[in-house]
Amino acid sequence: MNKHITVLPGDGIGPEVTAEAQKLLEEVAVQFGHTFEFTAAHIGGAAIDAEGTPLPEQTVARCKASDAVLLGAVGAPKYDRGPASGRPEAGLLGLRKALDVFANLRPITVFPPLAAASPLKDEVLTNVDFVIVRELTGGLYFGTPRERIQTDHGLEVVDTLRYSEQEIERILRLGYQIAQQRGKRLTSVDKANVLESSRVWRETAERLHAEYPDVELNHLLVDNAAMQIVKDPGQFDVIVTENLFGDILSDEGAMITGSIGMLPSASLGAGGPGLYEPVHGSAPDIAGKGIANPLASFLSAAMMLRHSFGMFAEADAVEQAVQQVLADGLRTADIAGPGDTPLSTAEMGEAVRTRLRATV
Ligand code: NAI
Ligand code: MG
Repeated sequence: MNKHITVLPGDGIGPEVTAEAQKLLEEVAVQFGHTFEFTAAHIGGAAIDAEGTPLPEQTVARCKASDAVLLGAVGAPKYDRGPASGRPEAGLLGLRKALDVFANLRPITVFPPLAAASPLKDEVLTNVDFVIVRELTGGLYFGTPRERIQTDHGLEVVDTLRYSEQEIERILRLGYQIAQQRGKRLTSVDKANVLESSRVWRETAERLHAEYPDVELNHLLVDNAAMQIVKDPGQFDVIVTENLFGDILSDEGAMITGSIGMLPSASLGAGGPGLYEPVHGSAPDIAGKGIANPLASFLSAAMMLRHSFGMFAEADAVEQAVQQVLADGLRTADIAGPGDTPLSTAEMGEAVRTRLRATV
């Protein structure tokens, strides 16, 4: 297959980890007989420096014309004093909007060799491997009215949790489809005992279930879900939920893994290119040292292969190569134990490519 990938390195360690992720994708192309074309473009602080804006039109146009987008990270301390609209982070929010990505996927995996980094006990961490599918463009973060009202008895404030049935349906469908590709269990998280939007969410999940009979559906109230994620995270396969609940639960899920440098994400839209990026930021404290952990970026590339290109064997091969380097005891500084000699970003990249060649 021939695929066009736009690479947005961004700031800090972004360029360091995406350079290695691109090399890994080039190796995948060689091993599996594909052609991947890469085009780089500016975003974030790098775009401000080069073009005076965090999201140049040219960048958006290139992303839209490609099959998928691989992003590093944005943000650097030197921009922290400016207005919000001119900050590097505005570039990322603008890009998500421009690509109309309505679903955010965050896999939560505890790699057994790294379980010691988790705040949870070992016995709670067996078989932790689930995905949170979060609705990204609706709900409380976007609903109107949103205002402050001065009344006779003081200030009142309004935020609005608004969803159309169509928005609920498309995210639930994606949840079902991802469950079909994985362990066939879908947990729909809502607050149907209180919220009308959650009642429609639950009704829609039930109605659509007829179309995905191979998937086992269950419902959890969000407060219970928050407890279950720390009590027994191994029970989940796919969690699907609305924007606010997903924001909170996905950060809770990230924390149980204990390793920010290992967590990938995907943002998917309706037919357009998907956006793939590590969960971590630009890590200014270690930028430029060549010691960043590139594995989150590699696992993001694996998600691209799976979700945008339908290359399932290729995605599995990348994930297995990452598992293998960890099983072989190779570590970057952020995940190294007292006895380990940490690898550089480039050394880790080379090690994963070597494992990939061996597994294919
Ligand atoms: P951060 O994720 O950049 O760093 C948090 C800590 O984790 C730091 O100690 C860092 O060195 C470490 N770390 C993160 N990724 C690592 C990796 N791959 N390998 C080794 N160590 C790693 O979060 P922080 O410090 O809150 O934010 C720094 C900048 O990044 C800010 O400007 C923030 O706005 C931006 N940011 C951007 C995001 C994005 O582009 N999606 C997401 C989060 C933050
Ligand atoms: Mg969050």
